[in-house]
Amino acid sequence: MRQARDFIIFPLDVPSFEEAKFYINLLSNHVGMFKVGLELFIHSGPEIIHFIQRTGDTKIFLDLKLHDIPETVSLAMARIREFGVAFTTVHCGENHRMLEAAVSGSQGKVGILGITVLTSVSGEDIQSAGFREEYATDPTGLVLKRAKAAKTAGCDGVVCSGLEVAMIKDHVGEDFITVTPGIRPAWEASNADDQKRVTTPAQAIQNGADYLVIGRPIRNADDPRAAASRIAREIEEAIKQS
Ligand code: C5P
Repeated sequence: MRQARDFIIFPLDVPSFEEAKFYINLLSNHVGMFKVGLELFIHSGPEIIHFIQRTGDTKIFLDLKLHDIPETVSLAMARIREFGVAFTTVHCGENHRMLEAAVSGSQGKVGILGITVLTSVSGEDIQSAGFREEYATDPTGLVLKRAKAAKTAGCDGVVCSGLEVAMIKDHVGEDFITVTPGIRPAWEASNADDQKRVTTPAQAIQNGADYLVIGRPIRNADDPRAAASRIAREIEEAIKQS
């Protein structure tokens, strides 16, 4: 049975091994997963993965957002699968072959999440990239199209906004995993930082999200461990009610 803390993914958005170590020691076994992104992985390499694994039972999400020719993606995935991480990411991109290569390269040893449309991309960007007018007017159509492509290729889920979860679950399937960033607890709702389309942990859970990426509300708290526990309690309440 999943515990509330299992829903929380804490991104290690720090530039050095030393800083990452501080948060790993503090939050190991208090959140469900650590997300290692490009900045930290480029700086610290596989050693950061091994350190997390030695420290506790908190899982790892290696967020490398692969995007290359299918052969290269497959070979990269063959290396990633040796790490024993729970999830990694690949862009849905322009064709299904890259997604299929990611899935076959993983050999079922790491969950593959598709990146549909980055939240930094606007309708205007989509138009100037040459996509159909309808996607520029409403990018959620493109998000859904790419989520379906990820499902067809055999991916395990997608990273999406908490506001897109219900749509994706409805159209792609309940068991298709949704990982949602842009989360701000009710007690921090006024502090969205640079996140534009935010949801509270409770809203994301009620919409059906499987995992919540929560960074700054934990990292910037006076007591990050207490903040993680408080968020876990909010999640627990939402699970009971949904
Ligand atoms: O909670 P906070 O805003 O600090 O979380 C930021 C994290 O969420 C970063 O690791 C960022 O890469 C990730 N993320 C995001 N928006 C997306 C996808 C991922 O902020 N659309």
